[in-house]
Amino acid sequence: MNFSNRIHNLKPSGTLAVSSRAAELRAQGHDIISLSLGEPDFPTPSHIADAAREAIQAGFTRYTPVPGIPEARDAVAEYFKRFYGVEAARENTMLSNGGKQVLYNIFMALLNPGDEVLVPAPYWVSYPDMIELAQAVPVPVFAPISEGGKVTIERLECALTPRTRMLLLNSPSNPTGVCYSQAELNALAQWAIAKGLFVVSDELYDQLVYDKKLCASLSPLWRRHPESIAIVGGLSKCFSMPGWRVGYALAHADLIRQMSKLQGQCTSNICSIAQKAAIAALLGSFASVDAMRSEYRRRRDVALAIIDQWSGVTYPKPDGAFYLFLNVSCMFDEKTPDITSLCTWLMETAGVAAVPGSAFGDGESLRISYSIEEKTLVEALNRMGRAFLDK
Ligand SMILES: Cc1ncc(COP(=O)(O)O)c(C=O)c1O
Repeated sequence: MNFSNRIHNLKPSGTLAVSSRAAELRAQGHDIISLSLGEPDFPTPSHIADAAREAIQAGFTRYTPVPGIPEARDAVAEYFKRFYGVEAARENTMLSNGGKQVLYNIFMALLNPGDEVLVPAPYWVSYPDMIELAQAVPVPVFAPISEGGKVTIERLECALTPRTRMLLLNSPSNPTGVCYSQAELNALAQWAIAKGLFVVSDELYDQLVYDKKLCASLSPLWRRHPESIAIVGGLSKCFSMPGWRVGYALAHADLIRQMSKLQGQCTSNICSIAQKAAIAALLGSFASVDAMRSEYRRRRDVALAIIDQWSGVTYPKPDGAFYLFLNVSCMFDEKTPDITSLCTWLMETAGVAAVPGSAFGDGESLRISYSIEEKTLVEALNRMGRAFLDK
């Protein structure tokens, strides 16, 4: 068959490639622990699942308006009021199939062929491919561990060209777990706005920040610059709802209208039942979110206590999400000269699946996720430690 250039150029997700290799080895009888998946291991909180059950029982199963039912859009606005003190109208919000579709909608609505997007690296796997689908150009700007894994204005400035159109920020970060402070986020966004750029702030993990001082959002700055900033959020990670496919946007009403037009021609509204669940999540009790955050924090500390004994392995300080991004270049040798061969070797000798950092724009690191029960996490890390020691 003759496929389009677009589909030829599109790479499959790096994280999914690792989990399918792990599944293959498991099917052959190998004992593999996967630390590769980016999804919470907790069940969806029961009050949220109950709202969905009630929606089905009430026959709430028809098409809805493309950007979401009014109550769901209002719930998104209410969320920003509740956590960030930001007043937004229903017209500033919409629901899409996960944060993924929100990002895709934004890129397709704002980018023209050849536009450049500054993407701090390490970055979330899908950003470059999504930007390329919009025929624009992702420009990675590397943030080294020596600078806390955070991008600086100086580094962004060096990557700026007359074609730069957008800056994409992500805090807490996937893959590093690094969180920018409110002051740092504001400074980066204000620099970008002064340069005439549009700022996209991917805040998908905003509830999973361990240090209260680092809870931050660009939504207050959006209030002052509604034409220059869009916020991306979602329920997958913070509410343990990855399969429900609920993402949301906070943006200028004109941008929301254009994104709705696109979504209307692609997928229409998100699942009507998931919208009712989203209302329960956003407006209901956050006790379960608080409990999950505490558990993730505990696991992070347990994991770091083990990893800190691995000599030569370094990482930027992870203050949120549920990932650790470890620079393991000290383990490179003739047998495992790069991160892909090292991850394959880890899977085959230690029985642990981790994602090569090359998928995130960093060929010296690997990502592990601690969204897995503590006992298994400890077993996996001990296996990795033993394998590194024997190297
Ligand atoms: C940083 C970041 N943004 C966006 C997404 C998209 O998530 P979803 O489409 O499940 O809401 C993910 C998922 O892994 C992510 O890690």
